[in-house]
Amino acid sequence: MKNLILEVKNITKEVNSPEGLLTIVKDINLTVEQGKPISLVGPSGSGKTTLLAIMAGLDLPTFGTVNLLGSEITSLDEDKRAQIRGQDVGFVFQSFHLMPRLTALDNVMLPLEISGDPYSMDKAQEALKKVGLSKRAKHFATQLSGGEKQRVAIARSIVNKPKILFADEPTGNLDKKSSDSISDLLFSLNEIIQTTLVLVTHDLFLAEKCKEVYELSEGQIL
Ligand SMILES: Nc1ncnc2c1ncn2[C@@H]1O[C@H](COP(=O)(O)OP(=O)(O)O)[C@@H](O)[C@H]1O
Ligand SMILES: [Mg+2]
Repeated sequence: MKNLILEVKNITKEVNSPEGLLTIVKDINLTVEQGKPISLVGPSGSGKTTLLAIMAGLDLPTFGTVNLLGSEITSLDEDKRAQIRGQDVGFVFQSFHLMPRLTALDNVMLPLEISGDPYSMDKAQEALKKVGLSKRAKHFATQLSGGEKQRVAIARSIVNKPKILFADEPTGNLDKKSSDSISDLLFSLNEIIQTTLVLVTHDLFLAEKCKEVYELSEGQIL
């Protein structure tokens, strides 16, 4: 039996624009099996970020359903979706989204502090260790290189041991060398903490490290 952790059925997203109704994602179907990373590729503007936001429960589609980790998130309200995201979903973005005035450790602790976790410090230190950044724990985010910032962001995203990790162009702001080590790290997470990667990228080479590659063009899967 396949253990599906994400099932996307007939997802369409329409938005109002000055030019009238615009279909930015059209009739998407895809599935993700636990432990099998998938990638979504396509040029800028093809709808990757929009689709990712819908799959992760950050946004709602106009039509269609998304079942994420056993819950049909497209029929849940924002509070319930936020609860699922907080417990079982991790996010990594191109631009890191760190708090510049906080140290690496405090950035990783932040989501745990907000949820009142009494073990936030221990868990954050452990997550920084997993991304190979223990030595930079006391550095402020502004004092880190791009690759180090992304390691901190990854540590933060895995601190709750999410079952699924959505990464949107995670190497988009990095040089070749950092990009390679960040992608190696992302692909190793399934072994380290059993989290399944959903990778959005315009980098075909990176995408093809996933067995399952979905190609988007003008909002549709080719
Ligand atoms: N809220 C919105 N309103 C109008 N157009 C949008 C909105 N969000 C995205 N778009 C448009 O939808 C298309 C797909 O965007 P996006 O999902 O960000 O693509 P990608 O991540 O592949 O670059 C783009 O043309 C973008 O301008
Ligand atoms: Mg995008």
